[in-house]
Amino acid sequence: MAIRRSIIRGTGHYLPERVVENSHFEETLETSDAWIRDRTGIERRHIAAEGQTTSDLAIRAARAALDNAGMTADQIDAIVVATTTPDLTFPAVATMVQAGLGMQRGFAYDVQAVCAGFVFALSNADGLIRTGQADRVLVIGAETYSRIMDWTDRGTCVLFGDGAGAVVLEAVDQPGTTDDRGILSSDLNSDGRYRDILYVDGGVGTTGTAGCLRMQGNLVFRHAVEKLAKTAHTALDKAGLTPADVDWLVPHQANMRIITATAQKMQLPMDKVVLTVADHGNTSAASIPLALSVANDEGRFKEGDLIVTEAIGGGLSWGSVILRW
Ligand code: ACO
Repeated sequence: MAIRRSIIRGTGHYLPERVVENSHFEETLETSDAWIRDRTGIERRHIAAEGQTTSDLAIRAARAALDNAGMTADQIDAIVVATTTPDLTFPAVATMVQAGLGMQRGFAYDVQAVCAGFVFALSNADGLIRTGQADRVLVIGAETYSRIMDWTDRGTCVLFGDGAGAVVLEAVDQPGTTDDRGILSSDLNSDGRYRDILYVDGGVGTTGTAGCLRMQGNLVFRHAVEKLAKTAHTALDKAGLTPADVDWLVPHQANMRIITATAQKMQLPMDKVVLTVADHGNTSAASIPLALSVANDEGRFKEGDLIVTEAIGGGLSWGSVILRW
């Protein structure tokens, strides 16, 4: 029986011009390029210019994705932006992208699941397509984490970067088999008991300020290693597939050691893993669409490749989406 699936028609990304190397932090903090590389795999990150907002980055990534898909904004029915660092408390960044693209139809909203945001947004957009509410959806991950860093906290400020990535999803009827192209399954999870190990210490209902990111890195690390391979396995299982079927792992780019451990648990060789963490750092909800777009630009994916995405972040929230290119 034919099934309506969400196929990726195009990808795009934007990274702010300013690149900050690890050595930059040696000037103000008790840290070193060697420590950051060894413990995280990060070498550099991009930082937004003064006045450059999340919607600015998102609009540029969206335009690139539309170009890559060979589409114009008026062909898009919905925009879903995953972000934790919106320009304003409201309106949604997605509506700013809509206006920036000159769209006067359709609907637009944000999804907030921190570093897992893109996986949640992709799954959500797939739901819009499957239920016939939209034929074409722009799904964007965009962040300016530089705005919520405590630049005196060496345990967090060296880890994050700014950027945006976008994909264009389009509804296509597929035969309804495991060989179908498009999104095949999702597995989403949250456990609010862990809110205190990764959070921002400000907000509308508390301090009235944006606040700064706080993290017990080693605890988050342990949850990540335990939960990421598990959610990928669950999503694969839902799709009727196994790790042996996987062509590419496109993980959230938080820490090279977490990525390696997850690949090992899935018995995937590292040449099947897309890595951007060295050059981008952790860009939270932007990291997976950035990695998808960079790998697509490099011509690494071919039609029919099975791709696993997975991410974990504040909440804790974590999940995985399985798709065939
Ligand atoms: N330079 C030098 N030393 C440092 C630095 C630094 N930049 N940061 C921490 N240290 C020190 C600590 O102070 C500690 O010193 P102590 O032993 O004297 O107390 C020591 O290094 C070890 O600290 P740990 O936190 O145990 O180090 P760990 O090996 O766990 O690495 C890291 C820290 C990189 C943060 C790691 O835990 C990690 O990557 N965690 C997961 C992050 C993540 O995946 N987050 C999820 C998404 S983020 C989101 O949702 C927004």
